[in-house]
Amino acid sequence: MQTMGAASLPSCLSYQDNRLMMGELSIKAIAEQQATPFYLYSADAIRQRIHDCLSAFSPVGVAVHFAVKSNSNLSVLRLMGSAGLGADIVSGGELTRVLKAGIDPGQVIFSGVAKTDAELRQAVEAGVGQFNVESAEELFRIDRITGQLGVQVNAVLRVNPEVDAGTHDHITTGKKGNKFGIAFQRLSELFCMAGEMPQVNLRGLAMHIGSQIVSIEPYRESVLRMRQWTEQLRAEGYLLDTLDLGGGIGVDYGDGRSLCFVEYANLINEALGGLDISIQLEPGRSLVAAAGVLVTTVVATKQAEPRNFVMLDAGMNDLIRPALYQATHPLIPVLLSNQRLEEPLDVVGPICESTDCFLKDYTLPLPEEGDLMVLTMTGAYSAVLSSTYNSRPLVAEVMLEHTNIRVIRKAWTLEEQLRLEE
Ligand SMILES: Cc1ncc(COP(=O)(O)O)c(C=O)c1O
Repeated sequence: MQTMGAASLPSCLSYQDNRLMMGELSIKAIAEQQATPFYLYSADAIRQRIHDCLSAFSPVGVAVHFAVKSNSNLSVLRLMGSAGLGADIVSGGELTRVLKAGIDPGQVIFSGVAKTDAELRQAVEAGVGQFNVESAEELFRIDRITGQLGVQVNAVLRVNPEVDAGTHDHITTGKKGNKFGIAFQRLSELFCMAGEMPQVNLRGLAMHIGSQIVSIEPYRESVLRMRQWTEQLRAEGYLLDTLDLGGGIGVDYGDGRSLCFVEYANLINEALGGLDISIQLEPGRSLVAAAGVLVTTVVATKQAEPRNFVMLDAGMNDLIRPALYQATHPLIPVLLSNQRLEEPLDVVGPICESTDCFLKDYTLPLPEEGDLMVLTMTGAYSAVLSSTYNSRPLVAEVMLEHTNIRVIRKAWTLEEQLRLEE
């Protein structure tokens, strides 16, 4: 049985006079201007996280590149760019977005396990700062394309450090058998090959061991391995001046477990001291997750055994994380009432799939039809993962900036979608 205490509310939310507020505005007032479901982000909360991140990592000389995949809305990217962050991208589409958001292409890292030739060409032509190479085959393709275009690029090899990050199986990336990264046994061979590629400046190593990591230990193990491989390759005569430590810093989804920036910064300082190397990080979730909520309305309640159901107007097409990763997003009411009795409930969406279930056996004051609720911690891997399944158009994204609300992605209409099918 799970429950959400007010004590664990994300910092951008609070209750005042029983009304749920984001910053200075009541969410009920915002929902009067925007039909539910919709995503709502706090610009101030994102800025605060960027500030916390830079204050922790800048003193240890780490350059921060926002992982665009976690939230690629142009307005979010502009916040990142204006704070001086670079970007970590995984597709040509994300490259187009970061350039449109005004992020310097020289501050862009191109990760991704299956970059197409067209995407590589687009990135080389745009002047992307670094290619994180996932295989020998990709290295050859970058050599061919840079040769054709007559452009030199920087690259690093993404290593599979074979460390268990202790996360959900669907978001672990650094274990043997994962599709990501290059076996460490092949690093020397690939550096040797790159020595014959005049346009490819191979400068170091990268890792990304998984996402939602809440313990420092897997990081300690992998960072120490990266140090060891860097030193070995240098001893073989290769010049390495870059180490990309990826993302993965975990946030509190209501169970009190998260990893703090300062703890990781201290580890980097300790483990990499004296290595004389430029260090990069690619955080995504930890910068934006807590700054977003999905505002939703209770469509219906249903008496059932073993528990009653609460049915929301948001579904797994809007927020797939619970179905995809068994993720938990706490659900809280927009108006608190002490008239309602608490009971364990199953909270579901309207989609015709049994996996369209947000919370099971979740204790909540029994909501009524028409009640406004929010699913919290939905600033990362939420709107970006939505779909139009069951012919439900994509929902709006709204940004709250001090007391101004701005639609930063309009809700699609079904007409727009149907037009694409004619
Ligand atoms: C290569 C790479 N870097 C960074 C990230 C961002 O991870 P997170 O959002 O957990 O910080 C990911 C996410 O999967 C990734 O694949």
